[in-house]
Amino acid sequence: MNYSLLLSYGVLMLTMTLFSQLSKPLSSKKLGLEYVDLYLIHWPVRFKQDVEGLNFKSEDIIPFDIKGTWEAMEECYRLGLAKSIGVSNFGIKKLSTLLENAKIPPAVNQVEMNPLWQQGKLREFCKQKGIHVSAWSPLGGYNLSWGSSAVMENSVLHEIAEARKKSVAQIALRWIYEQGVTPIVKSFNKERMKKNTEIFDWELNQEDLDKINQIPQCRFQKAEMFVSENGPYKSLEELWDDDV
Ligand SMILES: NC(=O)c1ccc[n+]([C@@H]2O[C@H](COP(=O)([O-])OP(=O)(O)OC[C@H]3O[C@@H](n4cnc5c(N)ncnc54)[C@H](OP(=O)(O)O)[C@@H]3O)[C@@H](O)[C@H]2O)c1
Repeated sequence: MNYSLLLSYGVLMLTMTLFSQLSKPLSSKKLGLEYVDLYLIHWPVRFKQDVEGLNFKSEDIIPFDIKGTWEAMEECYRLGLAKSIGVSNFGIKKLSTLLENAKIPPAVNQVEMNPLWQQGKLREFCKQKGIHVSAWSPLGGYNLSWGSSAVMENSVLHEIAEARKKSVAQIALRWIYEQGVTPIVKSFNKERMKKNTEIFDWELNQEDLDKINQIPQCRFQKAEMFVSENGPYKSLEELWDDDV
């Protein structure tokens, strides 16, 4: 399970994710809570029963049951354990399959998104279907062992930040926000946390937006660990619904 806290305007929103095993029940009670605000399927991936966290081998990955998993998520919603339910890291094909079977459509799709991986097609699809998009690694996972410095060192974002007297992080977060997407930025530093929220009383101009639209695109977190010759996902294209 992964927990993320979003604090804004005095509202605390708790999101939990189901990580790869349907057999483990929603454990909001372990946190001393009656319910969570949002419960997400973390990845369209399923492991064998005994696997804990990310300690898995390629043969531990078994076919993901979209229909059965979503039915269980819907049950969590009906029982009042989750106020909203959604998914994470779902591409257009998987969302389409889910929507064909769903009684309750997903409220959210949480995906990697930043100015260097803009997710245009997926955002358009989600907009048409009324699914809100939230952006993980909005700064590219800067300074994290598995992250990238490409967003924070991007010359176009630096140029815009200098001209507008903002930080590069604020430019990236404001751009995401202007796309109608919720950035989920993480910081353990109080000052950076505060600065990261100071994006609501100014806007990017058309020239800034045009420049950001021209930035070459690259998915940073490809999740190769879920792809294997004999597993259910034999290529990154299959995992990401041809959007790699
Ligand atoms: N659903 C999924 O599959 C998925 C996948 C990955 C991540 N997530 C979630 O998405 C959230 C954020 O993603 P993330 O942590 O990967 O990436 P991120 O928010 O893009 O980057 C976090 C890194 O940026 C640094 N940082 C934050 N604000 C900064 C600023 N203003 N200036 C300079 N550095 C700054 C942080 O360092 P300091 O702490 O030192 O400020 C930290 O090293 C997390 O809650 C995570 O759980 C979800």
